[in-house]
Amino acid sequence: MGHRVCAVDIDAGRVAELNGGKAPFFEPGLDEMIARNLDSHRISFTTELREAVPNADAVLLCVPTPAGTNGDADLSMLYAALRDVGPLLKPGALVITRSTVPVGTNALLAIQLRQEHPDADVAVISNPEFLREGHAVDDFMRPERVIIGAADADAGSRAAKLYDTLGCQIIITDLETAEITKYAANAYLAASISFINEIANICERTGADVTKVTEALHLDRRIGEHAYIEPGIGFGGSCLPKDISALVSTAEGHGYDPTLLKAIMAVNDSQPKRIVGYLRELFTDLSSLKVAVLGISFKGDTFDVRSSPAMSVIRHLGDAGIRVHAFDPMADRTVEMCVSAIAELHEDAYSAATGCDAVIIASEHSEFRMLDLQRLGKVMASRVLIDGRNVLDPATVAEAGFSHIGIGRARRGD
Ligand code: UDX
Repeated sequence: MGHRVCAVDIDAGRVAELNGGKAPFFEPGLDEMIARNLDSHRISFTTELREAVPNADAVLLCVPTPAGTNGDADLSMLYAALRDVGPLLKPGALVITRSTVPVGTNALLAIQLRQEHPDADVAVISNPEFLREGHAVDDFMRPERVIIGAADADAGSRAAKLYDTLGCQIIITDLETAEITKYAANAYLAASISFINEIANICERTGADVTKVTEALHLDRRIGEHAYIEPGIGFGGSCLPKDISALVSTAEGHGYDPTLLKAIMAVNDSQPKRIVGYLRELFTDLSSLKVAVLGISFKGDTFDVRSSPAMSVIRHLGDAGIRVHAFDPMADRTVEMCVSAIAELHEDAYSAATGCDAVIIASEHSEFRMLDLQRLGKVMASRVLIDGRNVLDPATVAEAGFSHIGIGRARRGD
């Protein structure tokens, strides 16, 4: 976009990796973008705030705000970052919060800055990010909108200028509205997913096919082709679950009981447990079962296992006394460490399925669409496939001699 950027992280290993042109995580297009901008000296990475902040017109705070002990957001890293940045800010600088923070936080950050640096002429801006993992570069470069919250109109329009070249709609509002817009977006997406999962659960009991229902819903312009209405074992990841909890906490803190938000979470929590229920329908003694879980990440084509519903499935299976073997095509050391205590990790789907009574697809990785069902069936003790993400065609699975269970679909096979 033409800006010069200096990025700071406290992790020296990560900074070294980035200065070598490599992102410390998988994100399509990001390595190329980093290398291109390193070459043109537009971007640099450092552990030293002194190298980055004193010359900056804008300081973007992008630190994590994970779930705290009561479901509220833990803001300790954000306040620590502000404390470190504060003394180094140049007059007229903008402090822009990109981290997801509860409504009211940016006003408190501005108070902290004023108290600690009464003479600093700086403004605090709320500018929540809406990136999806696996689409981050594209979501950033082609956003549907940019939200700028500011207590001061001039600071707001200066912040908006950062995004001028993107050519998208920029909504400038007050700090509180910008903050809550991020939560509203994620709560809406989560609500759509829990809604369709509830419809799927009703479809299963009534012989209806949820995939035809979603096809019809997508064609309704009021719902839309990109609506989050793919049923499955529930939503996970580093944002949706923690943001709903934080919004519940904010609402309750203001004396409002958010019954709908709580119901979204209740439906979501029950989806992974349903996999054990399906096995109960098919097998009398669960404790003698061995099953394979394909996909551990919270969604397809990512390696991230944070708040992954696939991990919940593995835990519920373990609680039922079932031996779990697992495979994830994108697994790295972090995944291995998370899974090794609750499942045996394998190098491929066929090795994981060997001797198993059932296979469960738990993340919608693209490569699972290409599974060789005959090969899979041959190594299994019995041909049962539970498709927790509806990635395979039930008729094809049944033709390969499997009993097939999908989410919100009629049972196929024996
Ligand atoms: C999400 C928001 O989309 C993004 O705007 C915000 O900035 C961060 O949180 P992300 O966590 O990357 O992004 O995941 P997303 O692609 O939105 O999926 C979230 C979860 O919902 C995944 O577990 C996914 O499998 C599930 N999902 C999504 C469904 O179960 N059904 C759907 O129709 C869509």
